[in-house]
Amino acid sequence: MSPVSSINPAVSAIAASLVTAKAPLRIGLIGFGCVGQGLYDILQHLPGFGAEVRRIAVKNPAKPRSLPAEAFSFRADELLQDPELDVLVEVIDDAAEAFRLVSTALRQGRQVVTANKAMVARHLPELVALQHEFGGTLLYEAAVCGSIPVVRTLDAYFGQEPLRSVSGIFNGSSNYVLTRMGQDGSEYAVALAEAQQQGFAETDPSLDMAAFDPRSKLVILAAHAYGVLLEPEQVLNLGIENVSATDISYAAVAGQKIKVVAGLYLLPNHQLSVLVTPQFVDPTSALYTVDDEFNGVVIEAEFAGPQFLRGRGAGGHPTGSAVLSDIAALRNQQRYAYPKLTTATPLAYTTDLEIEIYLRTDDELILDQLGFTDITEEADEDGYIVGYVPLDALLQHRDRLRKAGAFVARTGHVRPATHSVDALALTESE
Ligand SMILES: NC(=O)c1ccc[n+]([C@@H]2O[C@H](COP(=O)([O-])OP(=O)(O)OC[C@H]3O[C@@H](n4cnc5c(N)ncnc54)[C@H](OP(=O)(O)O)[C@@H]3O)[C@@H](O)[C@H]2O)c1
Repeated sequence: MSPVSSINPAVSAIAASLVTAKAPLRIGLIGFGCVGQGLYDILQHLPGFGAEVRRIAVKNPAKPRSLPAEAFSFRADELLQDPELDVLVEVIDDAAEAFRLVSTALRQGRQVVTANKAMVARHLPELVALQHEFGGTLLYEAAVCGSIPVVRTLDAYFGQEPLRSVSGIFNGSSNYVLTRMGQDGSEYAVALAEAQQQGFAETDPSLDMAAFDPRSKLVILAAHAYGVLLEPEQVLNLGIENVSATDISYAAVAGQKIKVVAGLYLLPNHQLSVLVTPQFVDPTSALYTVDDEFNGVVIEAEFAGPQFLRGRGAGGHPTGSAVLSDIAALRNQQRYAYPKLTTATPLAYTTDLEIEIYLRTDDELILDQLGFTDITEEADEDGYIVGYVPLDALLQHRDRLRKAGAFVARTGHVRPATHSVDALALTESE
């Protein structure tokens, strides 16, 4: 008797259905740069995964490629028009074009994966609505912290549980620069040049260093973790372009490191605070150990307590791995539930807070404009001041702070603008 004929008919039926479910998925890949090539390479290593890249679209016909020329199309719309493709993977570097392609595909009711954080953060309400209206699915795990599975963790695993905070290091390039400065005592420009040489920072580093990139990621997580939809501009993003060795030493003397921390913090009265700024981090924080190009996320859940995820936030294989996971999820008919978007008591985003900051500047006008309400520490000779300022003032003057060469880091303490109650600690560890 052959092994097959000895199988119980019920088991055979289940096995047959699993085989059917594993029929090779036909992928249309739009973009064949760092992430697109990373995904392609991973799929070559996983023949048992049951997916094949059927078509690839790129932009520049003159560019040398690792595959024969006939493997490529130079019109992404041809892939949108191909009914034989089961999944479209959009990994191009142009957010406006990415939105056009993804929204067109969703209007066709298609299964789509994207890694484009700027596009998702900018258009999330519309992307959610298109999925409801036309029945397609969009997954974007790769858009937030590369290989770290944080979007699905928040959406599915913590979909019902209240979260006290979600905070982390969401940008590997700026973290690499800060790590080099901390370890070598080097100035910002030297550390940035090294990061660029090592491939950890872009030639134009502004999106990463001025914290626009982690802000997009935070806006996406706000929807999944708290059901709050935000425009990116509503959120304070302060970066590290003006950090100096003096600031790193100031932190080191206190046994701390400076990290760019992106955070969502639940406040009393159903309010949510959302910030991306440099922050002093001490060794009791899990984020203290997240160095170099790594990312880390701390989730403080009401009942589960603290959880810490750490991993590579960028690179072809780590980001390709997140795209692969989304493709597998699509094959299992999984989609984001956005469970907290429909909660009975929605949270209100608030900026009506005072934040304790360290500010180093020689611009007296900025000091006046920020309107310190309390000064905790001041050192004229080193040009820094520590104290509470209204968050709204930081939002209003963030461009001026950048242009004036000022460096701001928060201590982790905030209080309501009226400061009628005690200061709260907005860190994941206190
Ligand atoms: N790199 C990472 O580690 C990382 C991590 C997380 C998320 N992401 C996100 O993933 C996406 C892709 O990033 P990447 O680093 O892979 O970019 P990349 O290396 O610059 O590659 C971009 C690719 O998109 C193609 N492309 C651009 N415009 C196109 C168009 N209109 N039609 C068809 N193809 C087009 C380019 O074509 P040519 O080859 O012809 O130039 C190139 O192949 C971005 O949204 C990025 O934010 C990247």
